[in-house]
Amino acid sequence: MKFFVDTADTDEIKSLAEAGLIDGVTTNPSLIAKSGRNMSDVIAEICDLTTGHVSAEVVATDFDTMVSEGRKLQKIASNVAVKLPLTMDGLKACRTLSDAGTAVNVTLCFSANQALLAAKAGAAYISPFIGRLDDMNIDGMEVIEEIRIIYDNYGFETEILAASIRNANHVKLSALAGADVATVPPNVLRGLASHPLTDKGLAAFLADAEKAGIKI
Ligand code: G3P
Repeated sequence: MKFFVDTADTDEIKSLAEAGLIDGVTTNPSLIAKSGRNMSDVIAEICDLTTGHVSAEVVATDFDTMVSEGRKLQKIASNVAVKLPLTMDGLKACRTLSDAGTAVNVTLCFSANQALLAAKAGAAYISPFIGRLDDMNIDGMEVIEEIRIIYDNYGFETEILAASIRNANHVKLSALAGADVATVPPNVLRGLASHPLTDKGLAAFLADAEKAGIKI
């Protein structure tokens, strides 16, 4: 499974990229707004920090403007993936941009039927939002599982990009469900490495090594 980091914080991205932990980045208008920076500038900087796809989302809602914004975003860097919302205009723009060779990440997906349409529209990625479904007491992971079955039934190459991930359990369950990518907030990504028994065991090893005077 590929790990993307879900942030526009370039310091976080740089640190995680240097650790070899990320295969790409996803942003959205809220994350760009949180950065307080010009969108083109921050996307260009992020694209230099990873060789993987960097999702940059349009802010238009009509087909024509979505396509023109998508073309502008694509010009920023070759590894930009244009993010389009899962609406009829977004699906139409997905078809147009993907036919022109642009990688499209169709976002704000909350059902298997929506994901089926995105695959038919040529999306490179589909982003089902697990956490926001869970927030409504709907099993977000069930949508991932359903999409996996449907995509495999028909050989769709669209990659399932598990999004709106809130915790380590979402990551594990996404991997078990066969998601191709998980886009993970920086703190959750770092937290995947943590376990109290690892800390306890390492402390014991180091104490014994010091007691025995082990030098390497
Ligand atoms: O960026 C896409 C998605 O991961 C955002 O989800 O629920 O954390 O805003 P959320």
